[in-house]
Amino acid sequence: MNAPPPLPAEVLERVRDLLARASEAGDLTEPASFTLATADADGRPSSRTLLLKDVNENGFVFYTNLRSRKAKQLQENPWAAMTFFWQSQFEQIQVEGPVEPVSDEEADEYWATRPRESQVGAWASDQSAPLADRATLETRVREFTDKFEGEPVPRPAHWSGYRLRPSCLEFWAARDFRLHDRETWTAKGDTWSQGLLFP
Ligand SMILES: Cc1cc2nc3c(=O)[nH]c(=O)nc-3n(C[C@H](O)[C@H](O)[C@H](O)COP(=O)(O)O)c2cc1C
Repeated sequence: MNAPPPLPAEVLERVRDLLARASEAGDLTEPASFTLATADADGRPSSRTLLLKDVNENGFVFYTNLRSRKAKQLQENPWAAMTFFWQSQFEQIQVEGPVEPVSDEEADEYWATRPRESQVGAWASDQSAPLADRATLETRVREFTDKFEGEPVPRPAHWSGYRLRPSCLEFWAARDFRLHDRETWTAKGDTWSQGLLFP
């Protein structure tokens, strides 16, 4: 599968502007949160909230446990969809496309910015696996805290990121009487085309 072409500069600038305005608005706990939809090999969907950690012309980056339910689905079926909704701006972006793993260097660079407690937590949490009780998790946190005492916490091989490479995007903005704006950008071959949709 050929990766979709890089995002047009104007689209990237608009995405960044929306994220910046959401952040500056100050009323959101997590202005970079989005819903990620994935599907298994049989096409059964699931979705959950994640945090966006980077966006550039090559796509949207998030980090997670590679043994989690979402990661297993992405290994079976790399197509995913993201939805950002900013309540106070009353704007939404939808992004669809295949994901690819980020490089180890990129994951290491982000890992290094995480608080030590979060790094230990990534070792302690067998994300998406059944947990007998909270005490089991707390015991594992203590075990990994002791294990890495006095040294940097290494990034687990099963913790890294994915980059969703957009093949289409839609900017949605609320307008009066539900006559909202919907603007689409769709990759075809090496180029992007712009269009509008009825609300
Ligand atoms: C605001 C918010 C941000 C979150 N950010 C992440 C994230 O960046 N990475 C992650 O793996 N889980 C994140 N989670 C937890 C996920 O929603 C989810 O519970 C977890 O990834 C397991 O999902 P899965 O079992 O479908 O793989 C976040 C949850 C919330 C509510």
